[in-house]
This record gives sequence, C-alpha cells and structure tokens, in this order.
Amino acid sequence: MNSFCMKTIKLLCILFLPATISAQYTYTETVAPLIYNKCSSCHHQGDIAPFALTNYKEVSEEADMIRTVITKHTMPPWMPDTAYCHFLNERSLTHTEIDQITSWISSGMPKGDAAAEPELPEFPKSSALGKPDLVLSMQHSYLHKGNNADEYRVFVLPTALLQQHDVAAIEIRPGNPAIVHHIILGLDTTRFADKLDAKDPAYGYAQYAGFGFYPTYNNWSGWVPGNKTRFFPDGIGTNVFARSEVLLQMHYGPSPLDAADSTVVNIYYSKKPVKRYLQSQLIGPNEIQDGPFFIPANKTKTFHAEYKVLEDISLISITPHMHWLGRKWEVYAINPRGDTTHLIRINNWDFNWQNFFAFTHLVKIEKGSVIHAAATFDNTTSNEANPNAPPKNIKWGESAKDEMFLVYFASIPYQTGDEKMDGAAAFNSFELIAHSSASGKTELRFTLDGSTTANLKLTDKDGKVIKQFFTAEHFEPGKQVYPLDTHDLKPGAYWCKFTTSSFTASRKLVIP
Ligand code: HEC
Repeated sequence: MNSFCMKTIKLLCILFLPATISAQYTYTETVAPLIYNKCSSCHHQGDIAPFALTNYKEVSEEADMIRTVITKHTMPPWMPDTAYCHFLNERSLTHTEIDQITSWISSGMPKGDAAAEPELPEFPKSSALGKPDLVLSMQHSYLHKGNNADEYRVFVLPTALLQQHDVAAIEIRPGNPAIVHHIILGLDTTRFADKLDAKDPAYGYAQYAGFGFYPTYNNWSGWVPGNKTRFFPDGIGTNVFARSEVLLQMHYGPSPLDAADSTVVNIYYSKKPVKRYLQSQLIGPNEIQDGPFFIPANKTKTFHAEYKVLEDISLISITPHMHWLGRKWEVYAINPRGDTTHLIRINNWDFNWQNFFAFTHLVKIEKGSVIHAAATFDNTTSNEANPNAPPKNIKWGESAKDEMFLVYFASIPYQTGDEKMDGAAAFNSFELIAHSSASGKTELRFTLDGSTTANLKLTDKDGKVIKQFFTAEHFEPGKQVYPLDTHDLKPGAYWCKFTTSSFTASRKLVIP
C-alpha cells in the first residue's frame, strides 16, 4: 500500500468514524431522557426558564445554544463540584451525558424511533406530599413590576398557632414559578418583622438577602427552581412555635411584564415522635482567622474560617452564602486524627443559584473536629458580576453592594448508625429486567430519590397505549422491585413508559 493510500484510509477514518459512533444517539432514546430529567423541570411552559425544552422541535431549535451552555457548564445550574462530593437533587450532566448530547447535535440530530420517546415527568401542580396540616398563604398577591430588575422582598405570614408542633416537612409552593428565583424561610417569635413591615407602605418589606434582623430560625427552609421537598427521616424533625411568624424572603427575577405572585407554605406535622430536632451551626465573620473582613477595590481576597465542633453531630445540609463578588468556596472537616471529610466545593459561585445542599447521607462530624471554610472574593473588573464599576472598597453588610461570608449547616445530634441510614437514594434510576416466558412475568427495578407517585404504561411499537400497569401509585424512596404480569401480551416489541413528578424513563420490552 503506498502512502497516498494510507493517508486516504486515515482520512476516511477521520471523516467517517466519529459519524458512525455518534449516529448511535437518537433523540428519543438518548437525548430526550436527559433533557426531560435534567432540564424540563425549569424549561417548561410557565416555569422560570425563558423557553420550553419539552419536545424534539423545541430542543432541536435551541441546539446551538444548548451545546454552548452544557459545554460551559452554565446549564443545568448546579454549583457544587461533583468531583468533591455529592448531594441530593444533583442535576448536573456527567461528561458522558454532555458528549452524548453534543455528538447527537453534530450528527444532524436524528429523531429515532418515535415510540421510544419517554413521556415528560408530571411536574406537580399542587402539593407533592399530600394534604398539609397547616397552610400559610400570603395575605394577598404581590405585584412584581415589569421593569427587568431583580427584587428582594420579605413577607410576614403569622401562624396563629396556640401550641407548638413537631414538623416532618416544609413545602414551599411559589405562586408564580415564572418569576420566583429563590425563597428563604425564617421562623420568628420576636415580632420584629412586624415593625419592618409597618415601615414599608406596600405589602411586605424590601430587604436584600436575609430578613433585616436575626430571627429565631434564620434558615428554616428554602426553595429554588427544580427543588424537591422531602419528609425528614422518622424521628428527625424541626418545630413550629406557638404564635410564631413564618418569614418569606423572596427573590423575584427580572421580568419584562408586571407579574403577580402569591406563594404558599405547606407544613406537615410529624406523625411519629421527633427524638432529634434539627439544629443549626453557623460559620460567619467571628470565625474568620485572617480578617478583618474587608475586600479592597481591584483585589481578589480569600478568607479562612475555622469552627470547632463540640459534640458528635450528623450533618444534613450545607448552605454557603455570599453576594456578587463571591467566586469560590471550599468547606471540609478535619477530625482529631487528621482525617478529612469533604463538605462542599464551589468553583464558580453564582448568587442566583444558591441552594440548601442536602448530603446524600448523614455526615458524621465527631467531637473535636474542626470545620474549615475558605471563600474567595473577586473585587476586580474581570468579575462580570461586580456591582461597582469602577470597583469600590467593600465591607460586611446586608445590601447587594456589601459582602457576606456565611456557611449554615443543618444537623442533628449524632446517633450510632447515622452513617448507614439510607433515608433517600441519591438518584432516580429505572431498569426493566427481561421477561420470563416461564412465569409470564416481567420484573421492574427502580430506585427513587424521594417518596412519590408513579405511573407505568405500555405502548406498542407505534406508540399506541396497550396497557396502563399503574397510575398515581405511591412509592417510598429507595430500591423497588415490581413484578408485572405480562402473560396476556401477544409476542412482539413494546415500550414501557415510567413517570414520576420529577423523573421519566422508557425501556423496550420484547415478548418472545
Ligand atoms: C433549575 C432550573 C433550570 C434547569 C434545571 C435548567 N435550566 Fe436552563 N435556564 C434556566 C433559567 C432561569 C434560564 C435563564 C437564564 C438564567 O437565569 O440563567 C435558563 C437559560 C437557558 C439557556 C439560554 C442561555 C442564554 O445564554 O440565554 C439555555 C440554552 C438553557 N437554559 C439550556 C438548559 C439545558 C440544556 C438544561 C438541561 C441540561 C437546562 N437549561 C436546565 C433554568 C434552568
């Protein structure tokens, strides 16, 4: 073979190989499940994202932008570094998933077998947890002005409770998901919020970040788009006090049109006795070792804090907080023997996507450990989020142009076995175990990351519904094995379509 020929073969390989590899990805089998599970919760009609990604047409029309945002990791919004540690509701795409979507786009976006397409999850329109024991609504709706600006506002919701209750879940239902960017809940018994409310003529009071004072619980609960409420595991809970007020700290995103919101908080009392109450730890300016907390103009600064843990605790969630100059976080614990436990790393802080990051399992931090927190602030012009042009000297403060350094933890006192407690699986998954002709049964195996209702239907190869196996059936979190009676099905190829309020899957079933 002469060298020209060799070159031709190499060239052919270069030309054809990637195409043959990528040709295996079709919309219905590979791309649709990724988009419907990782994007559509925000990208559907009436929700926070500016356009819907709920079918082939919508996804293929936005393909170029999708390729850009997923390779830059700006979408789906997920700040924690998944190489450092994992959290519940993790919605980032893996490298393989990014490759699958981008090579599908490069290979001309083949649609594939229409019958294989999974259905959209049934995004909940009412409570996802059933009937609440206490419903707190805004007194009346609030009109967020259509001036394309962010707005931060606190609303005071009196509980009017005569006695204290143990709480198993707090569910926040934004009235207008198209404008609500995030919500932080406080619980307060001091009534100080009433004074702030009285000073502001409109309903609620304007307050950027926080409540304007330190309520009894500063970080009682919270909500961000794509949020999923869960019940605390048995024996664990929080409380709502008699005559307390729930404080709603709303962040409304920019909107070109006036838009009204009326958000509701659903509270579920504990059915089983609460033995361990949620407590919170706060790492703040007092723990900073290399202060004072001052960020000079045109400088990048990193501050380190240390917090000594005085009793054995189990961490449930972590919530770092800073404003627009924030760039990075790294938080970890070192136990008395020198072993390190990773708690969170954020490489690209984005004020808009802060969250309560719940660990996939309870994390034991033993007495005598030290929690280290380091945060980097960028007060130069290269930080696009810098609210000051030119940059100014920045101090601690509650306003948008000041800065903060806070890490909240929700924890409970440690009990033996906490590390092994499997309250919720970290991720949803779905498998179909092949049909057994001997028994006429097919086995479904799936893992759910929270309690939910689910539906399962069977379609034929043309997409026609043949059988509805179950509808709105309730399942507990964790691993499930579910036998399907398929003895009445004619031989042939079918598709099993499984949906919950946040997850969808589709699998081929061949009856021999
Ligand atoms: C948690 C909610 C949420 C999820 C999940 C989400 N998005 Fe978004 N997306 C948004 C919002 C809100 C915007 C508007 C811009 C912003 O606020 O960052 C947006 C904007 C975009 C844009 C436009 C970007 C631009 O520069 O204008 C694209 C493209 C996009 N998303 C694609 C995706 C894809 C693909 C996924 C899944 C892999 C996804 N998004 C998941 C909320 C979400």
